[in-house]
Amino acid sequence: MLAHLSDPHLAPLPRPRIAELASKRLTGYLSWLRKRRAVHRSDVLAAITGNLARERPDHIAVTGDLVNIALPAEFEHAWRWLEALGAPAEVSLVPGNHDAYVAGADMLGALHWAPYMAGDAATLGAADSHDRDRPPLQPSLYGGESAETFPFLRIRGPVALIGVSTAVPTPPFMATGRLGALQIARMAALLAGVAARFRVVLIHHPPHVVPKAHFKRLVDAAAFRDAIAKAGAELVMHGHDHVRSLSWIDGPGGRVPVIGVPSASAAYGTDHDAAGYNLYRIGGRPCDWSCEVSCRSLDAAGAVIESERFGA
Ligand SMILES: [Fe+2]
Ligand SMILES: [Fe+2]
Repeated sequence: MLAHLSDPHLAPLPRPRIAELASKRLTGYLSWLRKRRAVHRSDVLAAITGNLARERPDHIAVTGDLVNIALPAEFEHAWRWLEALGAPAEVSLVPGNHDAYVAGADMLGALHWAPYMAGDAATLGAADSHDRDRPPLQPSLYGGESAETFPFLRIRGPVALIGVSTAVPTPPFMATGRLGALQIARMAALLAGVAARFRVVLIHHPPHVVPKAHFKRLVDAAAFRDAIAKAGAELVMHGHDHVRSLSWIDGPGGRVPVIGVPSASAAYGTDHDAAGYNLYRIGGRPCDWSCEVSCRSLDAAGAVIESERFGA
């Protein structure tokens, strides 16, 4: 059983030093004080992760936005949260735009979080012979043209997890993501190499067309969809929108489900969906897979319940 949660936006936000706010962090900090701190609550997140732990999933996928404005203390906090969630072999992480909020701020996060983003081969993301001949790469959270350590590939029984990074620093009020042509090509090569497995792509930004999302879109989503249309995948999981969603993109042999989850810390009764996560029971065999999705959601009384169940 595979679990998926996303966008914990860990609270509380440590008080930043003045010098740390001389950047995009200033608008982010004001946004946190004005609005977001009432939405993203540590007690809600604890209810979600507590419910998830009782289900004892075999593996947990986390699709980014662990932190808010990428302060060093936030990366430390997120590392401890990841450790409590599970061991690096049992938890796979891809970063979100908030984890690369300002240029250069990712190093601490990358160093601490690297075991959760490492591929099975320990050569982070190596996908072709050129990569294998290179010296070990410094851990980095970045996607886009700097996506050296992504994608990663992890095999867990019949499931292949392919994690990509869309995390790139952007100007204030922008929350776009970018994979970069090289990362997309490596992802396609990895997907083709594990075509006999149930292939799950982990990505922070939704790769399908989302109306009214220009300032927070995945810039090269069309190239991602082209790669999936050719190489194929059985499931794409994402976060970023903070809403529960199911859409479909083209694969070589039929449609590929694209499933988004709410923020795992979102209080009930805000603009976006209340906190939740998904559980996936995967069965069958190549060309005849089955996947049952159980959606868990926070209700008005603060309990975590199964809100929906469907086959994907
Ligand atoms: Fe987010
Ligand atoms: Fe995001």
